[in-house]
Amino acid sequence: MRILVTGSTGQLGSALLKQLKGLDYQVKITSRRKPEGVDFTWVYSDLLSGEGLEEAVKDVDVIIHAATSPIKNSKSIEVDGFEKLLSKLHHIKLFIYPSIVGIEEIPFKYYKLKYKAEELLKNSSVPYTIARATQFHSFVENLFLSKPFFKRYIVPRKIKFQSVDVNEFARHLIDLVNKGPQGKLDDFCGPEIRTLREMAELKIKVNNETNDVLGIPFSGKLYNSLIEGKNTNPMQKKGMITYEDYLRNKLN
Ligand SMILES: NC(=O)c1ccc[n+]([C@@H]2O[C@H](COP(=O)([O-])OP(=O)(O)OC[C@H]3O[C@@H](n4cnc5c(N)ncnc54)[C@H](OP(=O)(O)O)[C@@H]3O)[C@@H](O)[C@H]2O)c1
Repeated sequence: MRILVTGSTGQLGSALLKQLKGLDYQVKITSRRKPEGVDFTWVYSDLLSGEGLEEAVKDVDVIIHAATSPIKNSKSIEVDGFEKLLSKLHHIKLFIYPSIVGIEEIPFKYYKLKYKAEELLKNSSVPYTIARATQFHSFVENLFLSKPFFKRYIVPRKIKFQSVDVNEFARHLIDLVNKGPQGKLDDFCGPEIRTLREMAELKIKVNNETNDVLGIPFSGKLYNSLIEGKNTNPMQKKGMITYEDYLRNKLN
């Protein structure tokens, strides 16, 4: 089986490459930058310009599409570039599309684009599996809890996450390779739902920090959707590694 991983320098892409090493697949990888220390065949491609896409998708059976651009040129890449990519996939046996839990109910531009991409895939002739996950532990940490401000983590009050370990999600995606097209799967979510405030307090405890947490109220539809937990799914706690485990593993 010949697999192409797009977005090979990203969080998910890197986790996929680590786990594909040693498995009995012929792996090709693509991104604009070449990842360091990786033995797989790398091909340059750019979803914005379309350059290199033909070469990247040539001679592969399965694609795990981990390329994404949430902020810069997001529509051109998530939707237009994605459509261009799909038009080159007549030979593909399976296209695995990692997506995000609750995107149709959360008013955030990137999520709207991901939902549009899901619809494009569903309406295409490409055999697909859509696998939605909750936010990765590292994503939540990097976005909200990377640095305290004057010894305080400032967090939007009451918003919740059910973050999941990126390596567990990568394993889930690799397990899908041999299952053939499954359509849209049940969500793949982290083991617990926590407020961002609780996650900040955990970080302080695990790292023995002297910092504090300040929760501040926000308003707006996006904020409300995260308070309501639209980005979570308590019925689909599939991951085993908690946010606390993730923080402790980082210390080792
Ligand atoms: N992050 C999360 O919490 C989370 C949760 C659930 C699902 N997901 C989904 O998982 C997937 C991967 O997310 P991630 O967080 O791993 O993303 P990421 O770390 O931001 O990585 C994005 C990858 O896309 C590549 N890329 C960016 N622009 C490109 C372009 N114009 N052409 C080709 N490649 C380009 C980047 O490599 P170069 O810059 O080298 O090209 C990089 O390898 C996405 O579909 C995302 O929606 C993410």
